[in-house]
Amino acid sequence: MKGIILAAGKGTRLHPITLPVCKPLLPVYDKPLIYYSLATLMNAGIRDILIIIPPDEQKVFENLLGDGSKYGINISYLEQKVQRGIADAFIIGKEFIGDDSVCLALGDNIFYGPSFRQKLRGAVKELTSGATIFGYYVNDPRPFGVVEFDTEGTAISIEEKPKIPKSNYIVPGLYFYDNDVVRIAADVKPSARGELEITSVNNEYLKQGKLHVIPLGQEFSWFDAGTADSLYTSAGAIRSAQRSGKMIACLEEIAVHNRWITIDELEAAAEAMKQTQYGQYMLGVVNDLRDEV
Ligand code: G1P
Repeated sequence: MKGIILAAGKGTRLHPITLPVCKPLLPVYDKPLIYYSLATLMNAGIRDILIIIPPDEQKVFENLLGDGSKYGINISYLEQKVQRGIADAFIIGKEFIGDDSVCLALGDNIFYGPSFRQKLRGAVKELTSGATIFGYYVNDPRPFGVVEFDTEGTAISIEEKPKIPKSNYIVPGLYFYDNDVVRIAADVKPSARGELEITSVNNEYLKQGKLHVIPLGQEFSWFDAGTADSLYTSAGAIRSAQRSGKMIACLEEIAVHNRWITIDELEAAAEAMKQTQYGQYMLGVVNDLRDEV
């Protein structure tokens, strides 16, 4: 399975913060926003990752993530020249996807929670055909894609930003698709707001009876960090969650657990950053792993 991160949002809702720095590179507490979606894909076991970026920003993304080899993954970059909507990711990423299945993570969505890694791996393993998305309960679902279930818990409708939502379950920005998504996305027509909606793609799978919706319970945390308020809230939540001693989205830690980099490579990365909390955390992981051996 291939992975795509759609990180092409300039973040106009965050001006003036995003005038000099694009949204995916803004800090969420102790690391850049894009680390969280990269962590999600890496936790799912995905190593070939395309990051779709805003025009003229490749250099800054490369300064941060390089070609991914420091995490034992392959990162490539493509620009989204005009913001045409989320489903455009599959048009831009067509060649990258090739004949494979694909997971799309939105670059401003943050997920964490107990056994999230297992949930992701389960979703990858079970996706033989069709699509798998998640449903997450929120108090105000109106700004999101909203999924309605029947009494049996089967998804029966998905609406994008409904004025009167049919449920409180939103569809967060993490989607698993078989290869049909390339063809389905190419046929999507722009919505009233002029975008190629991911909800249109999901509705096509629903129509074909091939959409699987996994509910995410309240033990999971999800944030769409696209506004100043949600950036602030998610930074606070990450800070509190990390008080347990476990860091969320430490990419090098995930890489070493996946056996994509060695303990020595982790140690070298930690040494280079040891004056920071992130570097100290990595040193702790190195020590724990060496104790286990
Ligand atoms: C997008 C999707 C929406 C989804 C949300 C998750 O909304 O269109 O279905 O629930 O991401 O963050 P947008 O960011 O375009 O407002």
